[in-house]
Amino acid sequence: MSYIDESRRQAEELRKKDHVRILAIESSCDETAAAVIEDGRKILSNAVYTQIDLHALYGGVVPEIASRAHVEKVDLMVDQALQDARMTLRDVDAVAVTCGPGLVGALLIGVSCAKALAFAAGKPLIPVNHIEGHICANFLSDTALTPPFACLVVSGGHSHLFSVEDYGVYRIIGQTQDDAAGEAFDKAARVLRIPYPGGPLLDKLAEEGDPYALKLPRPKTEGRYDYSFSGLKTAFINAVHNAQQKGVSLNDADLAASFRHAVVSFLVDKAMLAADDLNLKKMALAGGVSANRLLRREMEKACARRGIRLYMPLLSLCGDNAAMIGSAAYYRLMRGEIADLTLNAQPALRLT
Ligand code: KG4
Ligand code: ZN
Repeated sequence: MSYIDESRRQAEELRKKDHVRILAIESSCDETAAAVIEDGRKILSNAVYTQIDLHALYGGVVPEIASRAHVEKVDLMVDQALQDARMTLRDVDAVAVTCGPGLVGALLIGVSCAKALAFAAGKPLIPVNHIEGHICANFLSDTALTPPFACLVVSGGHSHLFSVEDYGVYRIIGQTQDDAAGEAFDKAARVLRIPYPGGPLLDKLAEEGDPYALKLPRPKTEGRYDYSFSGLKTAFINAVHNAQQKGVSLNDADLAASFRHAVVSFLVDKAMLAADDLNLKKMALAGGVSANRLLRREMEKACARRGIRLYMPLLSLCGDNAAMIGSAAYYRLMRGEIADLTLNAQPALRLT
């Protein structure tokens, strides 16, 4: 029997099996990660190698360096994940991998590794969309969460408000017209001389600042639930540069707090506008920026006021990891969605 026919046969069997364990691999940007996940909900292991130190020197992710580091670390992470789960490749039921969106060279390392492992072990191969992975981090963080719900995905490359209608079924409610929220945080951090990735450190600094010290414009968008961060980012950078040129000293913590407040209130207000219009009852956060302290606090307040149940990923699952890929893969597998060995990296893969 050919590899794909055998995979299809196994996938059919797995839909009836009591416990399904998936080895997942993630390499779309600057984290090399592998994990073993049971039934889409339970983390048996979660190994992450972050390349941040390699890229910080350049102020951003250097694709060539990312690919090389993935090559060096991917099999170590797979070994680590299997060892931590007390398993061998033979004990897992399927192999999953992020196939997009992301950096093509980086994605290819994970995809090639997953294809080789799936073929060698004779197990089904499950392709996963990275954004879907971020959303599914919520299934690992709260095992009671079930669709339908709305999810605000805010990461370094994406800012979307999705309606999660069922497992694997998504509809876009709103999206950014230009920069992503994380990208805006990183660029704003750069003018404050905060090293890459600036988001987390800007967030920390902002805790001690006055959010009303610097007045920033309210972004305008065409779509009612859309986002835009580019104007906000430029206004912030210009204000800092102007002050520097005039020799006016502005407090970094106040600047960080003002920028964070502007981004977060925009994110929360738009999400709540959609919640009110569409009568949303359950809402989730996802992506690297969902670790932002103010975003978590403000979403909690806004949702509590409306009686909306809010779900937030564990802090350890906000950034890139393979556990979330293993969760998304389980629901893909249950729908019989597996790949053959022609699977390729899809840098601009969309979720809808
Ligand atoms: O989801 P992620 O790890 O990678 C992508 O898929 O893009 O998101 C990374 C982004 C970076 O821009 C980083 O600065 C931002 O998330 N980020 C934060 C915080 N933690 C991570 N931004 C604001 N506040 C944070 N606490
Ligand atoms: Zn991500």
